[in-house]
Amino acid sequence: MGKRILCASLFVFFLLAGALHCLAAAGEKPPKKAILLVAFGTSVIEAQKSFNVIETEVKKSFPGVETRWAFESRIIRTKLAKEGKVFLSPESALAQLMDEGYTQVAVLSLQTIPGVEFHRLNQNARLFGQMVGGFDKIRIAWPLLSSHEDMERAAKAMLKNIPAERKPQDAVLLMGHGTEKHPSDAIYLAMYGILQELDPNVFLATVEGYPSINAVVPKLKEKKVKKVYLVPFMAVAGDHARNDMSGNKPDSWKSVLDKEGFTCEAVLKGTAEYPEIVDIWIDHLREIFDRL
Ligand code: CO
Repeated sequence: MGKRILCASLFVFFLLAGALHCLAAAGEKPPKKAILLVAFGTSVIEAQKSFNVIETEVKKSFPGVETRWAFESRIIRTKLAKEGKVFLSPESALAQLMDEGYTQVAVLSLQTIPGVEFHRLNQNARLFGQMVGGFDKIRIAWPLLSSHEDMERAAKAMLKNIPAERKPQDAVLLMGHGTEKHPSDAIYLAMYGILQELDPNVFLATVEGYPSINAVVPKLKEKKVKKVYLVPFMAVAGDHARNDMSGNKPDSWKSVLDKEGFTCEAVLKGTAEYPEIVDIWIDHLREIFDRL
């Protein structure tokens, strides 16, 4: 009799212990997912609407998931802070999510190429998964152009969004950012090739990388182009689009092309305003979010 009671008590004890153990494990850290959107940042108010488009789409695609922003540029963060708009760096935003008990975080880089900024983000964000009390999982999505498929999709999306009044003999010149400091600058040349295959009057040059505007001018002349549509190939139509591309300063693309006898028309829209481009970013986010 005593033996049977002992057995039953032991059985109940182990059952309870097991249940408590599960509860404790779950209670310690209930899974809490968040998305962090990381952009270089812009202080141009009209350009910030690009970010609203992305945020709306992300919230639609991942309903109920906490979504935050971070800006990589310290200069822009400081400038915005003076206007009372506080944006955190990716590292501060991740630390805040960690403090608030988030356990699984998906980071989306709104960069165009995996260059210097993306690799810094990737390296630092991963560390938040290694800290004691850090995230259980953190994954970083690829920026816009990370495969040939991305480049083809992006090229088609850019072509689809060319102003309707453009005639086939008019050129379209995309302005990429470009980088001198990273091998992924070569992606712009690959994009150039893909664009040319789709439409031989669509060109691409970069502000800081290769090809430069000077490399493209002779090609426009060769094709006997008269009119050039200038289109930013960056997430936002910010400072580069407004000053270096279509501004009136002597070395802006518009001034350079005007001097060469071309007529220019600027389209001040960031790539984040094109739904087909946003889809690429969202697909990259989906890939990592589903593996959190
Ligand atoms: Co720049």
